[in-house]
Amino acid sequence: MDLRQVLVNEMEERIQRNELPRRTKEEINTLVSELLSKMTLDEKIGQLYETSYDGADVTGPQFDSSNVVNLIKDGMVGSLLGLNDNIDMYMLQKTAVEKTRLGIPLLFCNDIIHGCRTSFPVNLAMACSFDMKAIEEACNVIAYESAHSGVSITFSPMLDLVRDARWGRVTESYGEDTYLGTQVAKAYIRGFQRGDLGSYDSIGACLKHFVAYGAAESGREYNTVDISERVLRQFYLPPFKAAIDEGVTSIMTSFNIYDSVPATQNKFLLRKVLRDEFKFEGFTISDYTSSDEIINHKTAKDQREVALKCITAGLDHEMISIGYIKELKSLVEEGLVDEKLIDEACSRMLSVKFKLGLFDNPYKNIYHNSEEYFMKQEFVDKAREVAKKSIVLLKNDNDILPLTNTKEKIALIGPLADTNEVIGAWGGRALNEDCVTLKDGIKNVRGDVDLRVAKGCKSVDTRDEALLKEAVEVAKECDKIILAIGESQHMSGEAYARAYITIPEPQIELVKELKKLNKPMIVTLFNGRPLELEWLNDYVDAILEVWFLGTQSGNAIADVLFGDYNPSGKLTMSFPVTVGQLPIYYNQFKTGRPAKESFTKEEFYVSNYRDVQNEPLYPFGFGLSYTKFDISDIKVDKTELSKDDTLKVSVKVKNVGKVTGTETVQLYIEAKWFSVTRPLNELKGFKQVTLQPNEEQVVEFEITQNDLAYYNIDMEYVAEKVEYSIRVGNASDNLIETTIKTV
Ligand code: GLC
Repeated sequence: MDLRQVLVNEMEERIQRNELPRRTKEEINTLVSELLSKMTLDEKIGQLYETSYDGADVTGPQFDSSNVVNLIKDGMVGSLLGLNDNIDMYMLQKTAVEKTRLGIPLLFCNDIIHGCRTSFPVNLAMACSFDMKAIEEACNVIAYESAHSGVSITFSPMLDLVRDARWGRVTESYGEDTYLGTQVAKAYIRGFQRGDLGSYDSIGACLKHFVAYGAAESGREYNTVDISERVLRQFYLPPFKAAIDEGVTSIMTSFNIYDSVPATQNKFLLRKVLRDEFKFEGFTISDYTSSDEIINHKTAKDQREVALKCITAGLDHEMISIGYIKELKSLVEEGLVDEKLIDEACSRMLSVKFKLGLFDNPYKNIYHNSEEYFMKQEFVDKAREVAKKSIVLLKNDNDILPLTNTKEKIALIGPLADTNEVIGAWGGRALNEDCVTLKDGIKNVRGDVDLRVAKGCKSVDTRDEALLKEAVEVAKECDKIILAIGESQHMSGEAYARAYITIPEPQIELVKELKKLNKPMIVTLFNGRPLELEWLNDYVDAILEVWFLGTQSGNAIADVLFGDYNPSGKLTMSFPVTVGQLPIYYNQFKTGRPAKESFTKEEFYVSNYRDVQNEPLYPFGFGLSYTKFDISDIKVDKTELSKDDTLKVSVKVKNVGKVTGTETVQLYIEAKWFSVTRPLNELKGFKQVTLQPNEEQVVEFEITQNDLAYYNIDMEYVAEKVEYSIRVGNASDNLIETTIKTV
């Protein structure tokens, strides 16, 4: 019998799900202290190293795993990343537990960003659902499948605020608004950790990337970041604070600099902000070789200096780079690093391992039969529900959607019409073959539709004359055309910055050719980032933003196309008219020469472009429905809000259309003046309401001075005593308002 089969038999015998102890913080601290007191300096340093193994999914310089088993035997490894082979994980864990002096278990970390085997929509899409319960439930599923496939900690959620669609990683973010980011952050942590790390269905979460990686200049990957402390605290930190308050286990440092110091060696971020201010008790981990990369930043001349600077700054765990295991011992022995720093980092690692129950059951997540825990029907159903809610209706001229006449011949045309490559960046253990194509989704939802399919292009960016001609011929015989166009799933994600955010040329040609047939055209847009879409307005009647929706993509899109689900998504990232407007976001400052709707000679010197509008094509918070909602009658229960009081704001919301729908009612504020300049608009709340035709409800929000607060001229987070506009509506540019003041 081969070794792997021997190991599988052992795994089967060993698998046990005894109830794990739930220890108090004090109990864990005691256990950690006792264990730490037995550890040698080498063993403590070993806990600070994350390595990887053969066949692992890694996104960086390839990795030499030849010595990993020996390093584990020597107690020099604390965790591994990116493994997907359960038998390897079992063998490595067994090595750590049985072959080392103290038997300290390993952590297995993985990038399960928006799905393990059941794939949910990319994170930017899920955020557009504005449904925090749906996101939490999606994360419950992700956690369950991950916890049954060896993962103890996922490198998710990514909490980077994003304002520039050129950056490939906007696809992993929640978008451009901080308040929404805090709500999404809480939903992910609750979903992954379930408030119970000892559960067999939970995993630990790891926030990333700390911090402000999304502010990379010009959207260029790994580029310089330069923001003020006030902008950092006001816009970039709150989602991390919200997640820390939910008890997240770990935080990953980012590749970029903050205030000219690489985040991975940034003492202000890692000690002052995270420990002193945010009271974070978990561990910090570098991003993939981001510690060594401070040599490229030119803030360290060699690996010895990397180790010295990073441990001093408060980096606990080093991913892939070996500065810690190579240099820390001699730095301590030479008195250059206080052993207390090693002790505090090691204690944090041990503490998380105790919380996860790994000392009680090191094999708790490592199953020989993970497949049996994947893709349960309830998970697939949840994936379809979340996918539907993530779709945003951007345009629907003459209410061409939903498609109700099933007698019509439908042409489904485009390079994304019949592809299962709809998972998007960071697919985890999802399989394309599990994903429903748009073609199959339409057949599943409306089996009787006369559907004709043509690719029109060889691929998203490769023209093919014959395919183009074939598409035109197919379309000629049909009544309506659905265009499945956009990016491939490989055109966004890490290291996929694009200077031109266009739909590739061969697809533009396809649209223009089909327009000559003068038939109604509907776009289903597959993309991982906002794209330039203005040109489409002259060619198509409807645009459905369908992102990359994962396993249930085709079914969810078809549910919306045929009206089985009335689209409710709202954009969480502005779509520019042109890349030249970037970075673009709804909560911009006013400037000293505010932009005008349209400028005249007298108002020539204002903050406008000469060749394009200032406003985006589609703004933050925007999304159409198959019905129509009236939001009216904004009321406040007081016009003066004192420090310890609460203001109630209400509006009437009425469904004045013909079908039931869900509206996301959004609450914004604007300080009319302040000791520092503040945005023209700030989201402070949102509520979803589902109404039948003609049904009306009163939607109420509560506001305290804390909701109006901002970092003032003295960096105090206060609601200065001024007037504030209170606004409510269904998009950042479609609001009704009233005024109050703080006293
Ligand atoms: C990557 C990414 C990070 C990921 C890590 C481990 O470079 O920046 O998001 O979690 O490496 O794969």
